[in-house]
Amino acid sequence: MPEILSVKNLKKYFTKKGSSGKETIRVADGVSFSINSGETLVLAGESGSGKTTIARLILRAIEPDSGTINFDGEEITNQHEHLKKIRIGCQMVHQDPYASINPRMTILDIVREPLEINSIRNKTERNNLALQALSQVKLEPVEEIATKYPHMLSGGQRQRVAIARAIVTRPKIIIADEPVSMLDVSVRIGVLELMKELQEKLGISFLYITHDLATANYIGHRIAILYLGKIVETGPINEILSSPSHPYTQALIDSISDPDPDNLQRDRKIRINDPLDINVYQGCRFRARCPYAIEKCKQEPELEEISDKRQVACFVKIN
Ligand SMILES: Nc1ncnc2c1ncn2[C@@H]1O[C@H](COP(=O)(O)OP(=O)(O)O)[C@@H](O)[C@H]1O
Ligand SMILES: [Mg+2]
Repeated sequence: MPEILSVKNLKKYFTKKGSSGKETIRVADGVSFSINSGETLVLAGESGSGKTTIARLILRAIEPDSGTINFDGEEITNQHEHLKKIRIGCQMVHQDPYASINPRMTILDIVREPLEINSIRNKTERNNLALQALSQVKLEPVEEIATKYPHMLSGGQRQRVAIARAIVTRPKIIIADEPVSMLDVSVRIGVLELMKELQEKLGISFLYITHDLATANYIGHRIAILYLGKIVETGPINEILSSPSHPYTQALIDSISDPDPDNLQRDRKIRINDPLDINVYQGCRFRARCPYAIEKCKQEPELEEISDKRQVACFVKIN
């Protein structure tokens, strides 16, 4: 399987005004991963771990401090002429379908817009491609839906419009940033199933960003667990979720193993201590919250291979 997207040693630091003066937040701190053709990589971590920033770095909405991004066989970092290539070949689906689509445009105009912006094909062909995309996301009857406005659709339907808009340029990869977390539980599976089906039919790769391992497990092939800007564990999703090696992965898993389906809608908190007032970037950044921390964890663990497909950054390794 050819590699579609890879990032190597991506870094982005932000400075924020905190209680004790200026604070540096390492939103991406040496992040590396790759995604093959037709594959779904899950990027998982709590809110604030840096997931959306990594998506924005890939799409070049913001520039990395350092590191490289390769897309479809070419390095696109700092290459202005490759911006168009990634903006056509890599599309994004956002968490809030309302925020990412213009409420005053018809559904047809919304789906057609990426073709217009990039001057792809002529007007008739653009219309046809947009109608075809609406049909591919199963918004039927297509002709009727096409004339509607976003407020006339349900949340699930609006997210399908966002997906239609994403596939209309025939991208190689879609970055889906928490695409179902704002939807009712009852329609989540339908949208995830649609994404899987589009992957099978069109060969699209996904970077699926989430804080929710339940939906991740449904759609993912491999997973990378992000904690404060660093990947702490990565490998095949079934192996990682059945026998996590990093205590943080275990904590994320524990936070979803709630048998009550009504609780699926609740925002889950990780059942571990809040960080103490220490410099989290010294040593293992999970150390202050980790029930297994040892003296050695004051040094920073790097990702190391524990099998040919798995890597973990932890001195203790619970599995
Ligand atoms: N433009 C910015 N300037 C300063 N801080 C930012 C900026 N964008 C994001 N952050 C901070 O970076 C951290 C990671 O944010 P984000 O990437 O949105 O995380 P996630 O998507 O995992 O919730 C947060 O602490 C956020 O406040
Ligand atoms: Mg986010």
